[in-house]
Amino acid sequence: MQSNEQAKPLPYNDPAHWDKMVAAYEAQSQPFTTLFANAAVARLPIGASSKVIDVATGTGAAALAAARTGAAVTAIDFSAGMVARVRAHARPNIEARQMDGQALDLPDAAFDAAVSIFGVMLFPDWRAGLREMARVTRSGGSAAIAVWKSADGAAVHLLLAQIIRRLYPDHVTPMPCTGLAELADPTRLATAVIAAGFADPVVTEITHDFTLKVANPADIDKLFEFMPHWSGLDAGQSAAVARALRSEIEQRRTGDSFAIPSTALIATAQRT
Ligand SMILES: C[S@@+](CC[C@H](N)C(=O)[O-])C[C@H]1O[C@@H](n2cnc3c(N)ncnc32)[C@H](O)[C@@H]1O
Repeated sequence: MQSNEQAKPLPYNDPAHWDKMVAAYEAQSQPFTTLFANAAVARLPIGASSKVIDVATGTGAAALAAARTGAAVTAIDFSAGMVARVRAHARPNIEARQMDGQALDLPDAAFDAAVSIFGVMLFPDWRAGLREMARVTRSGGSAAIAVWKSADGAAVHLLLAQIIRRLYPDHVTPMPCTGLAELADPTRLATAVIAAGFADPVVTEITHDFTLKVANPADIDKLFEFMPHWSGLDAGQSAAVARALRSEIEQRRTGDSFAIPSTALIATAQRT
């Protein structure tokens, strides 16, 4: 690995990055995020007469869950590729639209409920993302917002961060998204939800395993592609982290699977 690669920022805020991720996201991440999306949607009082918005829908985990209640769902994402994938689900009660969650091109109070699963926390202006969710939700309507409980995120990101911290406790992990760190705490999440225009937040913790398939050593090597996410490691440190990761997987794998427990915070609240 080149040391200059290690300083690259994560492209979370570039729709072109997500456009390229659609197939991989749907195969590897959506089955995992769906577990949390289903839990979040189940906490919303919605049904066939409801209008629901899913902000940063990705491949549509929460939109699909909300649509199963019979609600009319508007699924928005800034990635044209993600929007095209949600349209291809061809659910009659899901309308997918490309737009920035920080400035929704939608009228005030248009929805009975708003949901965002691991979306708003990535926005550069996550406060604007939360405010926009509140603006488009009618008074008395509801919201469900899912974020990771760790500033390191979840799944492979979390595992790698844990290994780096164990090996190099003084290494400062640069946070690519301030919302990820700010909202990774129940009290701060509740405070942010209130500041955005919601009331009576209830924050629930939910943990699920991210299951990494490790049958093929090439799959494990793919993890090393995440290495640039931690800038400041030199080549020797990167190699040591890769060795520790491989050894941990070998020790803790169950057959072809390696479980990475990841905890989310789900805030539900009412629009004032
Ligand atoms: C981690 S994925 C979550 C997708 C989905 N909600 C799920 O739980 O599987 C983050 C999504 O946020 C979208 N996104 C990031 N920044 C955005 C923005 N400013 N406006 C709208 N969507 C955004 C990305 O395109 C991506 O689809």
